[in-house]
Amino acid sequence: MKKEQMKIIAKNILAEDTVEMVLENTYISQHAVPGQFLHVQVASKTLRRPISIADCNREKQTITIIFKRNGQGTKELASYPVGNELDVLGPIGNGFSIEQNAKTVLLVGGGIGVPPLYYLAKSLKEKGITVRCVLGFQTKKNVFYEAEFTQLGETTIVTNDGSYGEKGFVTDVLDNVGVYDCYYSCGPIVMLKALTTTLDGKKGYISLEERMGCGVGACFACVLPTKDGNSYKKICKDGPVFSVGEVSL
Ligand code: FES
Repeated sequence: MKKEQMKIIAKNILAEDTVEMVLENTYISQHAVPGQFLHVQVASKTLRRPISIADCNREKQTITIIFKRNGQGTKELASYPVGNELDVLGPIGNGFSIEQNAKTVLLVGGGIGVPPLYYLAKSLKEKGITVRCVLGFQTKKNVFYEAEFTQLGETTIVTNDGSYGEKGFVTDVLDNVGVYDCYYSCGPIVMLKALTTTLDGKKGYISLEERMGCGVGACFACVLPTKDGNSYKKICKDGPVFSVGEVSL
């Protein structure tokens, strides 16, 4: 991890209040692995914002971030124009472990938990692993990156209200995804709870980054007990990725 300046070279609105930014930086683009995040400084806030890495291009030396414009800090970040430089710490956190013997894996994302799975899906495909994706959103206007995921593997979109794709929750379509060796997921805790219960006994990895607050160990918003109840883990320091069964959700 290093403190770096990252230049905003592109900015797009992908869906309702969902912003994609492409940032240029040599060090972070050469070191980032799927599941890690950046700590981004916005001018009016003392604490940095933790934002997950959605993509990394080592040749072009770019990192893509996707975030929801839902608070003062992220609204301010979204307002920065192309050409601005961001003060960033990164890459940070424990990323996803790649199962060396896996032939097919299932990726399950919910809402703003979807972005880190894109970089993961690309990395898995480069290793010759078949990827199947289930992406859940509240409603049609929240859906993003369907085409991008579809290029990497069979992708099912689920919306809670049925306004796009399948109707319901990600757990409702799992019977249709076929056979896979392990699963990777990122999304709200309630979704991860339902998913790990439904897939009980399956090997999996979950990223709990949606639960992060300050991202630096200062606010205790991210503390979870370990499964055995004997200690606790901080998502920002010990995660954001954990093996299924490591922490109690
Ligand atoms: Fe604040 Fe972990 S996010 S302590």
